[in-house]
Amino acid sequence: MKTIHSDVLIIGGGAAGLSLALRLAQEDVSITLLSKSELTEGSSLYAQGGIAAVLDDDDNFQAHIDDTHTAGADLCKDATVRKVVEGAPEAINWLVEKGVKFTLVDGAEYDGADSDYHLTREGGHSHRRVIHAKDATGREVETTLEQHVRAQANVTILENHIAIDLITSQKLGLSSSRVHGAYALDIDNNTVKTFGARSVVLSTGGASKAYLYTTNPDTSTGDGIAMAWRAGCRIANMEFVQFHPTCLYHPYAKGSLISEAVRGEGGLLRLPNGDRFMDDHHELAELAPRDIVARAIDYEMKKGGFDSVYLDISHKGKEFILDHFPNIAESCETYGYDMTAQPIPVVPAAHYTCGGILTDLRGRTDLKRLYAVGESSCTGLHGANRLASNSLLECLVIAESAAKDISNRLNKEKNFQAVELPQWDESKVSDPDERIVVSHNWDEMRRFMWDYVGIVRTNKRLERALNRIKLLQEEIVEYYGNFRVNNDLIELRNLATVAELTIECALTRKESRGLHYTLDYPDMREHAADTILTPNNFVSHAPIRDWNPS
Ligand code: FAD
Ligand code: SIN
Repeated sequence: MKTIHSDVLIIGGGAAGLSLALRLAQEDVSITLLSKSELTEGSSLYAQGGIAAVLDDDDNFQAHIDDTHTAGADLCKDATVRKVVEGAPEAINWLVEKGVKFTLVDGAEYDGADSDYHLTREGGHSHRRVIHAKDATGREVETTLEQHVRAQANVTILENHIAIDLITSQKLGLSSSRVHGAYALDIDNNTVKTFGARSVVLSTGGASKAYLYTTNPDTSTGDGIAMAWRAGCRIANMEFVQFHPTCLYHPYAKGSLISEAVRGEGGLLRLPNGDRFMDDHHELAELAPRDIVARAIDYEMKKGGFDSVYLDISHKGKEFILDHFPNIAESCETYGYDMTAQPIPVVPAAHYTCGGILTDLRGRTDLKRLYAVGESSCTGLHGANRLASNSLLECLVIAESAAKDISNRLNKEKNFQAVELPQWDESKVSDPDERIVVSHNWDEMRRFMWDYVGIVRTNKRLERALNRIKLLQEEIVEYYGNFRVNNDLIELRNLATVAELTIECALTRKESRGLHYTLDYPDMREHAADTILTPNNFVSHAPIRDWNPS
């Protein structure tokens, strides 16, 4: 089979991948976009609350910057925070120009970018600044971008293609140090294809599927992070796993998120006896940053031996609730709860990967011509805890600067000669003998990550998890080496890598900060430092300004 060449290979079709593809498609470049499932499937599609942006005259950039730093427990990189916050109004205008319909204030007329949009509030924000499309912002953004990207003649979209690994100079035995493309499994035809590209972008999303309970769809298996690690890139801050405080508690409600905007619009957290408890934990009560609310719920559940706590917005009345949260109300109803009339049971669940592939503000990674954008990256925006609704924003702003940088570099490299890429070799492997091994390993890992690397950690729990993951890794590597790849095996291999990176990062942080809380070091150190892992297993606690990708 021949290598499929294009100027840019984008791996992942969420808000990051699609907005980057659309920005780049305006240039004279050929783009191949791979998605391991249907194009739109991914976390972006399910985003509820909205996108944080300073759009109100009473609000200001500095307030959004300060809120981001406060939520991030002083670990955010200031230059990144400024760039993303200041880029927000332009990013929102761009979406509006593309046709995204955000919710207007009651009675307002639609007037393009100048419309009077309704801004909701979420935890950690000092102002109302979250622009949204009812309670299904991600669907509106993702499907609008999808339509535009599908209409671009210079973008080839390949769905059900799962990238396996990057092709680097090092793997080819070349002296240069750059990325040359990737191998991907065409899931429908069960063949591995070779993709060559002058630049490759990882926009593969987060890794929350490493946990038993998560708000994320099945695509969040950390593939990009694991691929970048294997290709020699540094990975940072993986210990900061964000647990969303309010996921519907029901045996069949698989990761059904109840947006933070429900609390932003007046929802209260209650114990089973109806008492509120958040006032005992933080002065902002229900609107404290997410790490604090999730930890408070975990504490109250353990103290009282409860299966869940309750979220109550019934006092706002049926009309208000159905107007603001039509989809969430419908989803609750499916499981037998009427949120307009009763408190609903909620528990925390893994939601967002704050760490990831170390990048600069243009999305550049350590490997030349390899970019990472969106949840798979670590730009320094989120520090030790992401501020609500800053994630879609980061996808949009960094995708724009990455697109510019890629285009500039392509223009400078007019005489590019693609190297010959070897095809995927399946001559030494056979079909898997029993696929059950993969699903057992997957279940075991997600359970011990939940039990030992969860909201509250200890050295002992982390070491237990490390021992288990090392054993699993051995089994997976052996299996991977002997059998033909399939998507379950590819994802399991990546999840195991990401789980190990998370545990390693958690073990090296000798303090509690933001989302990383350990009983062994309950205090926060005076100086904030990132946890940076390099592929030769060297762990460094570098000052945050020292990042310097290619
Ligand atoms: P994703 O949207 O997850 O897309 C990843 C893409 O990569 C998918 O297309 C996937 O198929 C593809 N992919 C992955 N691996 C491979 C591979 N190996 N080969 C090929 N393709 C691959 N953030 C906010 O800012 N506001 C919100 O209101 C909000 N609400 C949320 C609600 C929910 C339920 C969830 C789960 C998240 C929410 N978030 C929110 C977080 C936010 O949605 C995500 O962080 C963001 O959408 C990530 O975008 P992305 O493009 O990086 O990744
Ligand atoms: C939510 O709507 O609560 C999710 C917002 C986010 O994850 O930023």
